[in-house]
Amino acid sequence: METRACLVIFVTAIVAAIFRPPVGAAETNAPFGDVFTKSCPDNDFKTSQDGKIWNISLNKQGGCGFMTKERYRFGWFSMRIKAVGGDSAGVVTTYFMCSENAAGPERDEVDIEFLGNRTGQPYLVQTNVYKNGTGGREMRHALWFDPTHDFHTYSFLWNNHQLVIFVDKVPIRVYKNANYTNNFFPNEKPMYLFSSIWDAEDWATRGGADKTDWSKSPFVSSYTDFTADGCRWEDPFPACVSNTADNWWDQYDTWHLSDDQKKDYAWVQRNLVVYDYCKDTKRYTTLPEECWISPWE
Ligand SMILES: *[C@@H]1O[C@H](CO)[C@@H](O)[C@H](O)[C@H]1NC(C)=O
Ligand SMILES: *[C@@H]1O[C@H](CO)[C@@H](O)[C@H](O)[C@H]1NC(C)=O
Ligand SMILES: *[C@@H]1O[C@H](CO)[C@@H](O)[C@H](O)[C@H]1NC(C)=O
Ligand SMILES: *[C@@H]1O[C@H](CO)[C@@H](O)[C@H](O)[C@H]1NC(C)=O
Repeated sequence: METRACLVIFVTAIVAAIFRPPVGAAETNAPFGDVFTKSCPDNDFKTSQDGKIWNISLNKQGGCGFMTKERYRFGWFSMRIKAVGGDSAGVVTTYFMCSENAAGPERDEVDIEFLGNRTGQPYLVQTNVYKNGTGGREMRHALWFDPTHDFHTYSFLWNNHQLVIFVDKVPIRVYKNANYTNNFFPNEKPMYLFSSIWDAEDWATRGGADKTDWSKSPFVSSYTDFTADGCRWEDPFPACVSNTADNWWDQYDTWHLSDDQKKDYAWVQRNLVVYDYCKDTKRYTTLPEECWISPWE
């Protein structure tokens, strides 16, 4: 899928640069400042000499992050990330989509959060979904590699039928649109893409038992190769609704997992799920309705 996406991007990027079509847009390999705005003290944001790797750091004074200038509704959004190594307990590295630049009461949001850990202890990845300000859809996964050693690709595939979170090419989470009138699938609000590093020592590592060791700061996470191959939102609504042939991310084949993806997903389900809110009957005496939707269809 990545190779194909890259081809699409290359072509669409050229077309987009010339025509700026309202539907179907892509950003890749563009200069950082063309795509993102950052909110970091200068010292906490560093780029490699060629400008292609973006390091953000956390210290006692605070964290750092950057977000896309554009919002998108549906598409494929991927980033390669190398999370802070060594003693990173309490430190959370993120890549997420959100409809607002704030934790507002009506936001839609889909999170990938890397929960740091003591040296040598494994990272967990927490994912969550919010609709109109309500979340509580956490899952936690172990990974099959150390995310601090190398860059790996973390991606969202988002259309009106499903939201899939990929790690490299493996789907680790599938979140389906139930298509009820009152469902919990975020499909109305366009979203920005965000990357950040912040301190969450009160909950992140062993439930808050392991605190951040500030003598190890600054904590640095590295990002590169952002791809947004999706529909760039332009007011007024309704934009980004069609599934024209250009929008590969909203074609029939992307409305469900492929056979190979199903095998990978089954392997993840068997081996790597550490927490699933849909199994947490202490927390939810009535499980949220989307817990009953099959990810296999
Ligand atoms: C960015 O962080 C990496 C560690 O992930 C480090 O090796 C590299 O030197 C940093 N680059 C800059 C420009 O700070
Ligand atoms: C979204 O949340 C706001 C504030 O909590 C509420 O007033 C509004 O009715 C909600 N909208 C929908 C469509 O549920
Ligand atoms: C949801 O249901 C409506 C009405 O039955 C249908 O037109 C639409 O295609 C459905 N959407 C999805 C994502 O299944
Ligand atoms: C951190 O490491 C401990 C000990 O191996 C483990 O129990 C925990 O699940 C790891 N991750 C988090 C987020 O606490």
